[in-house]
Amino acid sequence: MTESKVWRWGIMAPGTIARGFAAALRGLKRARFQAVASRSLVRAEAFAAEFGAEKAYGSYEEILADPTVDVVYISTQNPHHAELIRMALEADKHVLCEKPFTLNHTMAAELAELAQSRELFLMEAMWTRFHPVTRTVVEWIEEGKIGEVVHLIADFGFHGSVDLSSRVIDLSSGGGALLDVGVYCVSYASMLFGKQPRAVTSLTDQMPSGVDLTNSLVFDYGEGRQARLSSSVIHRLPNAAVIVGRRGIIEVPNFGHPHGATLRLFGQNQFDLSKVTEQIEHEDLVNGFEYEILEVMNCLDQGLTESPLLPMRETVAILETMDKLRADWGLRYPGE
Ligand SMILES: NC(=O)c1ccc[n+]([C@@H]2O[C@H](COP(=O)([O-])OP(=O)(O)OC[C@H]3O[C@@H](n4cnc5c(N)ncnc54)[C@H](OP(=O)(O)O)[C@@H]3O)[C@@H](O)[C@H]2O)c1
Repeated sequence: MTESKVWRWGIMAPGTIARGFAAALRGLKRARFQAVASRSLVRAEAFAAEFGAEKAYGSYEEILADPTVDVVYISTQNPHHAELIRMALEADKHVLCEKPFTLNHTMAAELAELAQSRELFLMEAMWTRFHPVTRTVVEWIEEGKIGEVVHLIADFGFHGSVDLSSRVIDLSSGGGALLDVGVYCVSYASMLFGKQPRAVTSLTDQMPSGVDLTNSLVFDYGEGRQARLSSSVIHRLPNAAVIVGRRGIIEVPNFGHPHGATLRLFGQNQFDLSKVTEQIEHEDLVNGFEYEILEVMNCLDQGLTESPLLPMRETVAILETMDKLRADWGLRYPGE
């Protein structure tokens, strides 16, 4: 395959986040917005007209039967990811699916196996991972600039009301802070420590349904290396990542969708962090979703079935860590 191939994308479920994704698709020369499918044809047609998709379908089955669609982006609510990923793979489509990839790790592992057996591309749309600021932060760490990572503080939360009809609060919609925003923190920790914690402990504020509104997690990686992660769907948090190495510290404001990062090396006096050693600032080409789309297309160009930046085994492992936390909390979703 040549680098100039245009990949024809389909969007399954034109909801809130699909709008950002479609805007990014439109901004990329090598991506064509081929089709959109909704449970409602009227919704699909309105979305197609707004974002310039060539076709609109009133069912998910129809888009998957369209041979002109190469790769689908699945942006339904959480409980429907697994079934739609399976349907898409069985229809021979490459798949990018929103976070959290599935409700639990068993579902993700089965789908990873299915994708492998059908030689199809599969990836979680954890857009933070592919963002240029995140890539630079990882490069700084790989180059040994701050030495071994020994501590991470990361959080993600937004002010919200306890609205039982909201998908982030409703149990049957796969609600909860961990699945909605905590997954960013857990994935970031996985990326920085390069493995899952050997022990986890946590405190949560839960609804009678079990859904977690706010949580704080402590991950232990051995030898005193730890991550402290918090997420909330009712309280705004700093939403920053602070990465502490043996020789310095990296701060990433708004780490989920970053616009810059700062590196400070410990001087002779490790308590004096007044001197910035390196700093980057970044402006998105479109809105930040373009980087995960580019990653998918680069992988497809190379005939890869997974991204080296977020292989399926890591998505499965991250979900397994989240499953352990939920087991501690007694939080189970219908259909698990
Ligand atoms: N990457 C990010 O920054 C980000 C941000 C927010 C959300 N997300 C993720 O994206 C996904 C969608 O979130 P969203 O906020 O866009 O959700 P949303 O607007 O509430 O719903 C998305 C779509 O899900 C579809 N859907 C299919 N079956 C459904 C059912 N039984 N009940 C309700 N909806 C159903 C609907 O599409 P049709 O009926 O039109 O087919 C709906 O438009 C979630 O997994 C979420 O975690 C990611």
